[in-house]
Amino acid sequence: MLSQYLYISTAPTLPREDVDAILSTSARNNPAQGITGLLLFNGRNFLQLLEGEEGAVANLMDTITADPRHSGVSVLDKRGIAQRACPDWAMKRVLIAESIESRRDMLERELPESLDPEVRKMIVNFAVLN
Ligand SMILES: Cc1cc2nc3c(=O)[nH]c(=O)nc-3n(C[C@H](O)[C@H](O)[C@H](O)COP(=O)(O)O)c2cc1C
Repeated sequence: MLSQYLYISTAPTLPREDVDAILSTSARNNPAQGITGLLLFNGRNFLQLLEGEEGAVANLMDTITADPRHSGVSVLDKRGIAQRACPDWAMKRVLIAESIESRRDMLERELPESLDPEVRKMIVNFAVLN
């Protein structure tokens, strides 16, 4: 059974290099665990979509929740999925445009088409917040 988790967390003073390190770790670990997804960082908060077999994603969620580089992990959505929305991404970094006006357009281009519309809306809403 495939599961998809969407969560947000807080990391107000995290240096860029730490975000790069998290993405490198994800690229190294996630394929072996059958985990795919995407990660947004707006300079203050993370939003991450994780998908994979329920046991593997739940384990990774426990590891991530205990990671001292962020806090306040809050799961926005958890659902069973028939297919992955991000089958080709060990962990895609989704950049957020500087200008709030262009964020929505950029996200519409960057987010996978196969995302459930409700999940897509949650991600776009997060990204257009300051
Ligand atoms: C916001 C955030 C997202 C993370 N996402 C992943 C991830 O997708 N995959 C992963 O292996 N580790 C991720 N991590 C890192 C884990 O918390 C943990 O440091 C890492 O899995 C340890 O891997 P290692 O034992 O190979 O060093 C993330 C950490 C943070 C703060």
